[in-house]
Order: sequence, then structure tokens, then C-alpha cells
Amino acid sequence: MIGTVISGYRIVRQVGKGGMGVVYKAVNEQIARTTAIKVLNPRYCQDPETVQRLMNEARAVNIVGHPGLINIHEFGQLEDGSGYLIMEFLDGDTLRARLKSQGGRWWPGGVRIAQQIASTLAATHEHGIVHRDLKPENVMLVADSHIAGGERAKILDFGVAAVRPRAGDGESAFFFPCGKGVERLRGALPAQSLLFSKRHPLRRQTL
Ligand SMILES: Nc1ncnc2c1ncn2[C@@H]1O[C@H](COP(=O)(O)OP(=O)(O)O)[C@@H](O)[C@H]1O
Ligand SMILES: [Mg+2]
Repeated sequence: MIGTVISGYRIVRQVGKGGMGVVYKAVNEQIARTTAIKVLNPRYCQDPETVQRLMNEARAVNIVGHPGLINIHEFGQLEDGSGYLIMEFLDGDTLRARLKSQGGRWWPGGVRIAQQIASTLAATHEHGIVHRDLKPENVMLVADSHIAGGERAKILDFGVAAVRPRAGDGESAFFFPCGKGVERLRGALPAQSLLFSKRHPLRRQTL
């Protein structure tokens, strides 16, 4: 993928990898803009529900629109059908990397980070959106001189997020890659919806 141009952005290097896709740093030199592009793993590209899930990831964060969430600008599909998202590039560490570098020990900024994450989640829940895959690799820490502590936690990866359907909405549009609507697997979104996961949300007991 290095060197490929997607929607005007040339991919320069890989910056991360998760269960569903690979994330690249990409630049548009003409307008001096850097972005991150998440491209779905090609093994999922023939599965329309997985592509739909990527689109829903973008919708979820844009519905909430909170500084503690990643900004996602664009959804599209490559010629082979692979879905991609163009989002803001976060120049920072994952919370996983930070915890590792702290050697599992307490650090003074940790509470502030936890408070930010809780407050961002509260905002998403106000919009009826539940992340359901919250884990340190889905949180990035970026410098932000405008807030106390100079660092902002950004929650990523709303790929398996769910929305509480509103009256008249019918079934939720949020899906798992296995091809079944979450609500059909677990029943309508309950108050005790899964908030955190260790591996796959469906393998973890409801909290
Ligand atoms: N916008 C971004 N800027 C920089 N790195 C990112 C960005 N988004 C994701 N990453 C990196 O890529 C990894 C995988 O991204 P994620 O959205 O969680 O993909 P997946 O759905 O495959 O788990 C993250 O853990 C992080 O290291
Ligand atoms: Mg992830």
C-alpha cells in the first residue's frame, strides 16, 4: 500500500494495525495536510456488512462530535471493494504503549487520562452510542497545550459500537463482522450493554 494514493492522500507508512484493518499515515503535499487512513483487511472486503460497519464507525463519532473522539472525514471503497476511512492523524502513543512504558506503575497523569476517557464516554452514551471495545490500544494520547496536563486522550475504533435505536428507527444499523446485527445476537440494546472488552466483545460477559 505504501505509495498508493487514496482520495488525494499518498500513503507514506504504516502506523498501526488492529483486528479489522491497517492504519497508515498519508499526506496530501499540495495542501500540506497529513491524515491517517484505515483500510479494512482485504479478507473482509467482500463482506458488505463489514464495509457497512466501517461506515458506521465514522457515523458514530460524527454524531457525537466530541474532542475526546477521533475526527473521521471520509469513508470510501478501493477498487477491490476494501473500505477505508480518512481521519485526523494522531501524533502520539496508544494508552497500551504508555502503560507498558510505565512498567505497570502509577503515573501522576493517569487519573486525568481516566477522567477524560470517562467524560468522553459519558458524551457518547448521551447520544445512545456504546463503544463496546474499550481497551488501551483503542485510546491514543496526544499533546494538547489547551488543556490541563497538556495531553488529551482520544478514543478510537467505534467499529463494534452500537446505538440505542430511537423510536421509529427500526433495527440498529450497527453490525459485527460475523455478519449478524448485534441486536439480533444479543437482543435489543440493554441497559447493561457491554462497555469494555478484553478480546472479542461477544466472548466477554456482559458487565
Ligand atoms: N488516527 C490515527 N492516527 C494514528 N494512529 C492511529 C490512528 N488510528 C489508529 N491508529 C493506530 O492504529 C491502531 C489500529 O487502529 P484501530 O482503529 O483500532 O483499528 P482496528 O479496527 O483494526 O482495531 C491503533 O491501535 C493505533 O495504534
Ligand atoms: Mg482497534
